[in-house]
Amino acid sequence: MIGTVLTEPIHGEVARTAWADGMLARLPAAPFPETPPARITAAALADLLGYWSASDGPLYRLLATRLGRLADTAELPTGLRLPPERELATVLSVSRNTVAMAYQVLRDEGMADSRQGSGTRIVPHQCTPAGVHRANGFFTRILGTSPVEADLTLATVECAPQVAAALEDPSSVLSAAARRAITATPGYFPYGLPDLRAAIAGMLTTRHDLPTRPEEVIVTTGAQQALDLLIRCEVVAGQPVVTEDPTFPGVLDALHRSGARPVGVPVGDMTRLERALAAHRPPLVYLVPTHQNPVGVSLPLTARRGVLALAKAYPDTVFIDDMTVADLPLTDDPALPLLAALDSCTPNVVTVGSLSKTYWGGLRTGWIRAPQGIIARLASAKAAADLGSTAYQQAIVAALIAGRNDEILKWRADWLRPRCAAITAALRQYLPAWQWACPEGGLSIWARLPGNADAGAFTQAALRKCVAVVPGRLLSATGDADARRHVRLAFVLPPDQLTAAIKTLSAIDLPP
Ligand SMILES: Cc1ncc(COP(=O)(O)O)c(C=O)c1O
Repeated sequence: MIGTVLTEPIHGEVARTAWADGMLARLPAAPFPETPPARITAAALADLLGYWSASDGPLYRLLATRLGRLADTAELPTGLRLPPERELATVLSVSRNTVAMAYQVLRDEGMADSRQGSGTRIVPHQCTPAGVHRANGFFTRILGTSPVEADLTLATVECAPQVAAALEDPSSVLSAAARRAITATPGYFPYGLPDLRAAIAGMLTTRHDLPTRPEEVIVTTGAQQALDLLIRCEVVAGQPVVTEDPTFPGVLDALHRSGARPVGVPVGDMTRLERALAAHRPPLVYLVPTHQNPVGVSLPLTARRGVLALAKAYPDTVFIDDMTVADLPLTDDPALPLLAALDSCTPNVVTVGSLSKTYWGGLRTGWIRAPQGIIARLASAKAAADLGSTAYQQAIVAALIAGRNDEILKWRADWLRPRCAAITAALRQYLPAWQWACPEGGLSIWARLPGNADAGAFTQAALRKCVAVVPGRLLSATGDADARRHVRLAFVLPPDQLTAAIKTLSAIDLPP
């Protein structure tokens, strides 16, 4: 049913309920839903607003503009009742007057109306039913253009110089004959360019002790597309999917958009994982066993063996080992094996990877390693999505993996470690009451605010000081209370900027 009452404090809960009820399937052909969702909570709206205040101009104007865009895209659907001014002002760390004036702008521009006793509602305007979805505020930093002085939200890395050089001058890694061979093809490779499939298979075989044939690899547009394809191929709308809680927010977004129902289990909790499998029988389990994003811990060997045992016990469930941040160690401890490397006879364990965090995110090069049957399904879905990633660049990337991978990974480790050292030192110096664990790897720290401070309100207060951090609830499958006390801090800025950003955060009065 469409008229879902938003009783849960996070917007995701709403959409989950709605999707689970088959909302999209039953949307009317009319341009607007007849019985719209009733209201959105202040905290849920804050998530959708994202980094609305990080531009120049009066706050009420910025707020009205962002609310207007959300209404344009139907993320705030027609008829939705906006939160009371006072409540929204509290979670956004602004005055009530700012919210009142923003609502007034919306009314003046014909996007909202207010009636005695029923608050302020979004009114019909130009949008489509297909636009109604559960957006994740996490992506507002990429989707928007608002500048902040210190962005600790996106774990994006600068391009490794070896990669930049090869992109600038492909002849440095590809012979003239190799370049001509690519342009002589039709250019469409839904499975991926054969050379790149072979290079990825070679890297998994030699570097990760995971014997892999090129036929067991599909090239994707980043790990995000890999996850999206797996969800499209393995999950039917309404089905439960088990993830760690907290987890990589991109997977939550893909799950919500597909209509799946994320079920969170605490990171590393094998008992809860087993219980979730028994109770929900999910078609998919998503894990980041190595350098978990956002927590930065790695699943110990015994627990990895435990996951393999569960994969054998639940052969109809596909277990994803997302190794996107696995090649970013922050200690000199020996690398732990990928799940699939522990047992070659568990066909329902698939591996997702990416070069985004080691080479450069702009390559948009990821992969899935799985049995050939699953790869064939994924290739059909990939063909429907984009007919294949760009062929010429895949040839360059294949040459880099085959020839310079170790060198690039070493360069990235030297790039990353001073950043981690800077942020951890700054946290110790300026925010000694915060709780966090030194990450074993990856690009982020999962930090708990002292006392019961709400991380959403803290995030908004930080934005006023031009520092952007991610409130923990955006990384939680369940809107978990503990996640709401956490923020994720990515440490990809230069070390001095990280230190300055943490010092700025320390000047914020913690919201109650
Ligand atoms: C664990 C994890 N998986 C997947 C992704 C998406 O990576 P890509 O940029 O390759 O799409 C990320 C990016 O942050 C990530 O941290």
